[in-house]
Amino acid sequence: MSISTPSAELSVQQITLAQPFQDQKPGTSGLRKSSKQFEQPHYLESFVEAVLRTLPGVEGGTLIVGGDGRYGNRRAIDVIARMAAAHGLGRLVVTTGGILSTPAASHLIRQQQAIGGIILSASHNPGGPNGDFGVKVNGANGGPAPASFTDAVFACTQQLDGYRIADSLNLNLDAAGSTHLGAMAIDVIDGVHDYLQLMQELFDFDLISTLLKGSWPMAFDAMHAVTGPYASALFEQLLGAPAGTVRNGMPLEDFGGGHPDPNLTYAKDLASLLLGSDDYRFGAACDGDGDRNMILGQRCFVNPSDSLAVLTANATLIKGYASGLAGVARSMPTSAAVDVVAKELGIDCFETPTGWKFFGNLLDAGRITLCGEESFGTGSNHIREKDGLWAVLFWLSILAKRQCSVAEVMQQHWSRFGRHYYSRHDYEGVETGKAHALYNGLRERLSSLSGEAFADGRIAKADDFAYSDPVDGSLTEKQGLRLLLEDGSRVILRLSGTGTKGATLRVYLERYVAAGGDLQQDPQQALGSMIAAADALAGIRATTGMDRPTVIT
Ligand code: G1P
Ligand code: ZN
Repeated sequence: MSISTPSAELSVQQITLAQPFQDQKPGTSGLRKSSKQFEQPHYLESFVEAVLRTLPGVEGGTLIVGGDGRYGNRRAIDVIARMAAAHGLGRLVVTTGGILSTPAASHLIRQQQAIGGIILSASHNPGGPNGDFGVKVNGANGGPAPASFTDAVFACTQQLDGYRIADSLNLNLDAAGSTHLGAMAIDVIDGVHDYLQLMQELFDFDLISTLLKGSWPMAFDAMHAVTGPYASALFEQLLGAPAGTVRNGMPLEDFGGGHPDPNLTYAKDLASLLLGSDDYRFGAACDGDGDRNMILGQRCFVNPSDSLAVLTANATLIKGYASGLAGVARSMPTSAAVDVVAKELGIDCFETPTGWKFFGNLLDAGRITLCGEESFGTGSNHIREKDGLWAVLFWLSILAKRQCSVAEVMQQHWSRFGRHYYSRHDYEGVETGKAHALYNGLRERLSSLSGEAFADGRIAKADDFAYSDPVDGSLTEKQGLRLLLEDGSRVILRLSGTGTKGATLRVYLERYVAAGGDLQQDPQQALGSMIAAADALAGIRATTGMDRPTVIT
């Protein structure tokens, strides 16, 4: 550990920008752009300057910084440290190797009572010199900063004339230790340890360990992204699973050329191990920054909407949730599977717009305990982000407690609560103009659609989803086009807010079959008539020129 004394002497440069950047509008997950864009001179610095000017409490405060290990991670940490010192930050907490998953960052912000954190990640987008990079800011509650903050940052970047940065820093990220840059303390800490401790408070590790040490092979795919070091320590060291349980466990700057998104398309090696053989009982994967999860059983895929419903129905079996749930929430496009469970449990169920930040107020106010999104995100009040490994531990705990397979859990769930057949069809890389024309065209026709025949039924109501926050009363509009059918089925269209190439159109399809009905259909078949009707109504194939979605979940 290197020791140095604080010194008021800090050589700070004042850099003048010839002109401000106009394209630094953060999306749902921070500023996400290609690595090449971030490598333009002053580009990263401009955004960081705006963040440091806007974030409350920088002077003398504590800030957490780390990322998912992708190309650009270490350079960004160096820049942020030098700029934070120039802005009078009191203490910077960085993690060894710069490795810090999004959920672990959320935990550290809360635990260290920091003013917030800067997470360097483009989540599940590919990385490397030709991939994407991202800078996301979380607030003091550990959750993604609200729109009021990101709007203010954007406004600041648009008229920025320059930035302040300390000259140089020789920061050793390879070992834990403490140092100073001028008066700012820098603590390099292990980013894995505190997170694993939190997991041990929530889950019965002896119970899970007995399962994993028995002849119960599981495979975890870290996709060469941030969860590798966490998962190896967790599954193979703490819980005693055999070496090799964690696959692709070494974080790489380009994720080994892969697309670190845990779904059936991008985690297909893991999917074929579980769905195409009988060698494993359980499989799971997390995304680039560790907040998403995919759960697989032997020949069984758990869709994330169902996963949230299963966690809710089984929560009292779990150590950290034994006393029950305050309530639950799901994003609007997530299926209503959890609603049925919440109703039976007699707890509140909230429907929020897409994006984790909308859960923050409900969690902070103690109105909900669990929440989730169809996009492989599940989490709880333990932090203010979705949490991939947490979801895996939750599932393992249920399986260890109930001593049954994933497929049996699902069958029993559906025969008790009914089944929400569900699928999301993504059309990626659509020409932006065409995507917006399609979307706006449908939006204009919404009011004329109620009462119209659709698939095997009729549209009861069509609208553009708006959310009124039950905690602070704020209104968020234009969150997705909904076709609500008379029998409770739904079709939703949204344009992605996280893509970096062209536009991504997402079509979400859902049909409910009550317990006692046919619960054994293939989802694509069960939804077949709705898929065709959605295409006919919105002209998706004709407009995009694509004859099938890029990703089907
Ligand atoms: C996607 C998901 C959304 C999630 C977000 C960040 O956003 O759909 O549920 O919160 O990534 O992980 P989208 O690209 O749809 O705007
Ligand atoms: Zn992510």
